Amino acid sequence: MCGIIGYIGDRKACEVIVDGLKRLEYRGYDSVGVVTEENGKLHIRKGAGKIDELKEKLRLNEMPGNRGIGHTRWATHGIPNDINAHPHTDCTGEIAIVHNGIIENYLELKEELIKKGHRFVSDTDTEVIVHLIEEGLKDFKNLENALRYALLKLKGSFALGIIYTKDREHLYLVRNESPLVLGIGNGEMLFASDIPALLPYTNRVIFLDDGEYAVITKNSFVIKDMRTGEIRDKQIQEINWSLEMAEKQGYDHFMLKEIHEQPKAVKEAFYGNVKTIDKVAKEIAKYEKIFIVAMGTSYHAGIAGKYLFQRLAKKVPIVEEASEFRYEAEDLVDENTLVIAITQSGETADTLAAIRLAKKKGAKVLSIVNVVGSMATRISDLVVYTHAGPEIGVAATKTYATQLTVLAMLTAALAKHLGTVEESYLKELENQIHDLPKYVEAALGYENKIKKLAKELKDKRDFFYIGRSISFATALEGALKLKEISYIHAEGLSAGELKHGPLALIEEGVPVVAIAPTGKTYDKIISNIEEAKARKGFIITLGDSEELKEISDVFIKMPKVDELLSPIVYIVPLQLLAYHLAVLRGNDPDKPRNLAKSVTVE
Ligand code: AGP
Repeated sequence: MCGIIGYIGDRKACEVIVDGLKRLEYRGYDSVGVVTEENGKLHIRKGAGKIDELKEKLRLNEMPGNRGIGHTRWATHGIPNDINAHPHTDCTGEIAIVHNGIIENYLELKEELIKKGHRFVSDTDTEVIVHLIEEGLKDFKNLENALRYALLKLKGSFALGIIYTKDREHLYLVRNESPLVLGIGNGEMLFASDIPALLPYTNRVIFLDDGEYAVITKNSFVIKDMRTGEIRDKQIQEINWSLEMAEKQGYDHFMLKEIHEQPKAVKEAFYGNVKTIDKVAKEIAKYEKIFIVAMGTSYHAGIAGKYLFQRLAKKVPIVEEASEFRYEAEDLVDENTLVIAITQSGETADTLAAIRLAKKKGAKVLSIVNVVGSMATRISDLVVYTHAGPEIGVAATKTYATQLTVLAMLTAALAKHLGTVEESYLKELENQIHDLPKYVEAALGYENKIKKLAKELKDKRDFFYIGRSISFATALEGALKLKEISYIHAEGLSAGELKHGPLALIEEGVPVVAIAPTGKTYDKIISNIEEAKARKGFIITLGDSEELKEISDVFIKMPKVDELLSPIVYIVPLQLLAYHLAVLRGNDPDKPRNLAKSVTVE
């Protein structure tokens, strides 16, 4: 989704902005734009393309002024081209605006504004905002009031940055259902869509809430409610992420770095929660009606979570994509319901909508989140952090491992509290949860083998990932990783489904990746592997039993770990396979086409 960065201080604004935009690149974008101000004149340079090429072509680092705003655009309304790139200006060219989100009533507003004589140059929904502010200035004379006039007319989601030539000491920012964070520096202020863009300058931040705007100078800020204009008292939070954590540190890509960080991430997830998890589990124990809601990779963690709840706590949660839940659950959720939302970013639009619906219906909401202070953490009753550190690669890797770790800890604590499984088994499981970093480290040891395998498979068109029980989640997630970064068609299937249709697609040489840890359904998946083998599929197995070797074209021997914890370990070779295939096929795994790190629009 779009990225926003704003700066006011003593530095050359364009340099801070271009650096910030680079740090927001992972959000996904197709166009770039920067506006700076000097001596009451706006300087705007923008175009379709990537930051590195436009930096040279438009000389983005040579723009004058100490205040300015930058934007990376992920097109929604209007094709990616130079004109639709942000910033957009009003008719006078004195106000410039950048926007992340969607203005739902822009057509009707545009019509009214055209009737009043405003001239539009782009196809974007964004442009109506800046003309509305211009319209507001006719009556209200100062930008803050004109801005409020405009905001109150907008329907939809918007994070905004605004600069006005005649208001030389200020920048303005707004948040409504799209993320925006204010960074408080020393004699300088910044704002950005996400924390990594702020880290070189400050780790003191304020998370704006929906319906808030801020007026900033280089030394001060005031945050207000956009509806009432009242000042909001906000807490400054210190982020304990370091700049290095948000940099590649010698790895070719963030994704590879983040895959390799998993032993540490899992350890942090464990120690970050071990003291408090019992308390959360006791709260969960009160509920029989439990929904797990999430999207994408977080949804796959939810599916694994379902098996953990069933096997350990004898509870059966309903796992739903948040995008479905938000429209289906209205009459199903009440004050006796627990909704567990899983979200790395804490800003996914569908997941936030699901949380809001649950809250409205009186349900209790527990969120499992990575980004500290994100919106999900502020609207939930309970929060468990995954402590994975910043994840920059669009493909979720270490945050998935930590979500699963947290779910394993939670359900083990719940089982202990409810007495639903044998004590000796629980003890062994707890030991293995503690030792997860060791198992994940061992799984990383297969990288060379995976690299070789990737060379063999690089021209394949379709992949099938199969798993039973909790390994179904691994099959789904393995397939998603492959699709999103290598652009190879892949399906994740519950292995039992194979012969009910998808088997028709298995022919000579089609890769079938079977996730087969020993456990409850191990014998069953062997039969499914045989079915695929009989159709001459290229069989890749992941498991801890040597006998798999005999029925496999490629066998990846995994460390022996309880089946319920296997998703945390078995996903590692699948992440590496997707990564190396993407690189071999010439794709940038950190910035897959058409995708954004956090999906902040519906
Ligand atoms: C997975 O690799 C993707 N980045 C995507 O599916 C992601 O998991 C999904 O958009 C949910 O994001 P969230 O965890 O930040 O809510």
